[in-house]
Amino acid sequence: MISAVAHPNVALIKYWGKSHDALRIPATPSISIPLLALRTETRIEVAPTHDEITISGQPDTSGRIGRWLHCLRGDFELDIPPLAVRSHSNFPLAAGLASSASGFAALTLAINTLLDLDLDTASLSRLARLGSASAARSITTGFVSLDGQASTHDAWRARKALDWEDWPLGVCVAICSHASKAVSSADGMRLSRDTSPAYTAWLEGNRRMYARAARAVAERDFDALSAAARWSFFGMLTVMQTSDPPLRYLNASTFAVIQAIDALREQGVPVFFTCDAGPQVKCIHLPECAELVEARIQAVPGVQEVIRACP
Ligand code: DP6
Repeated sequence: MISAVAHPNVALIKYWGKSHDALRIPATPSISIPLLALRTETRIEVAPTHDEITISGQPDTSGRIGRWLHCLRGDFELDIPPLAVRSHSNFPLAAGLASSASGFAALTLAINTLLDLDLDTASLSRLARLGSASAARSITTGFVSLDGQASTHDAWRARKALDWEDWPLGVCVAICSHASKAVSSADGMRLSRDTSPAYTAWLEGNRRMYARAARAVAERDFDALSAAARWSFFGMLTVMQTSDPPLRYLNASTFAVIQAIDALREQGVPVFFTCDAGPQVKCIHLPECAELVEARIQAVPGVQEVIRACP
């Protein structure tokens, strides 16, 4: 029995859109930070005849992990035996907290150990990316970039840009709904690419923001990182809202939290927010204002729970 743990991550510079659907090659580079208090543990062992996959005690009815294993065995010629896979997370699944990222990353790490593959971070992240592109960033912790110059599988891999210990920011998550999302990220991205008139401008602008954010991380410049992350979030939101039909992942409480965080910022508190394909708001702040941020978002009507995700 092999066990591996991975954390979900939150992208400060967003990935939204693919240049190759089946190989999950992103159309935009991204930068993430880990949600260290949230974790997925995956245990695997060789199964007698066929894959048996359970997620939080329930059989995986989506078939997503099975398809990924099939792809690794076929197209990537990995000699993976039938596996019994059991995965548990300590946070709500399919609610915009990147459970597929930590799930595929933990499984990739476990397979690497089981088969003695001894793969490096870049290679592991490429395999995890075939399951879910954001999983590539959960192979390691810290500030992680997922970038590639060409639209080929090999070019797109994750890289640690900075150790977490070198700039340990705080992250508080406002849970604004426990419901699962109605449209998967993959379907939403396809719709945005095919229908949003803002899509091309989004790809160009987000690449510029990626370069700015990478510089801000290297210089530990919170204000510059916050400005780039803000653009990336609102750029992605614009593309979602101008998709046809529009993608509505956020709810009224999400916008109320966003306003509360903006008000704190205007008072000089070092905090900014970002959201993904779900209504939860991730508030990123300097460590010294953790209690202030937590208390402020807890007071927003409609917020169901606040999770201190880092440290
Ligand atoms: C909004 O990685 O879940 O969270 O590659 O299709 O599995 P697939 O999508 P996924 O998309 C994440 C989108 C996002 C932004 C981000 O994490 O960069």
